[in-house]
Amino acid sequence: MKALRPAPDVVLATGDLVNDGAPEQYAIVAQTLATLPMPCYVIPGNHDDRENLRRAFPDKPYLADTGEFVHYVVDDYPLRLIALDTLVPGRDKGELCQRRLAWLQARLAEAPQRPTLIFMHHPPFATGLPVFDNMSLRGSADMGEIIRQHPQIEAVICGHVHRSIHTRWNGTVACTAPSISFQYPMDMVGSGKIEPLKENPGGRLYIWQPDGGLIAHAFTSTGGNW
Ligand SMILES: [Fe+2]
Repeated sequence: MKALRPAPDVVLATGDLVNDGAPEQYAIVAQTLATLPMPCYVIPGNHDDRENLRRAFPDKPYLADTGEFVHYVVDDYPLRLIALDTLVPGRDKGELCQRRLAWLQARLAEAPQRPTLIFMHHPPFATGLPVFDNMSLRGSADMGEIIRQHPQIEAVICGHVHRSIHTRWNGTVACTAPSISFQYPMDMVGSGKIEPLKENPGGRLYIWQPDGGLIAHAFTSTGGNW
């Protein structure tokens, strides 16, 4: 991220910040993210622990008043950002329960004219990869109903899969990003354990242009200070 020119305005970390939710793991992540020159917005994935995540980032005011779930809105930019929390403690599957869906509905209803990007950990769409579709997002159909009612949503971007995938979904675009750590294989047959690939880390770069909409670039790194 540091090598990108021009530097992005923000970094969105779409969950699974650590492997086991442990404080010592978050300490490393917090130290690393503190070197970024731009704000970084974090959300939990299935490997995270909400309380340890909050404690690791006491300097991030957006985490302070999120209540039961780590979901929040960032209204500081031309593109409105909505962060969702799909974590179910102790489970690989994700969920948007009725309380989280009601919160999303309310946030979208309060700014229907603002171009909006939603970011979350578990993709709400079927990926075609059995191992990930077997730990899919409960509540995704209900989320889709909400999304369809709000044309201001430019995209729904997700993590979890460690691969770049995109699809049309309920009137918007939904995608997963490559991982800044390891990648997972494009295994469309197996549903058992998968092993990380020795592929380069990657990510997605988004450019928001009021007249041109949201442009997405998937990129990989060959190493170094990226
Ligand atoms: Fe995950």
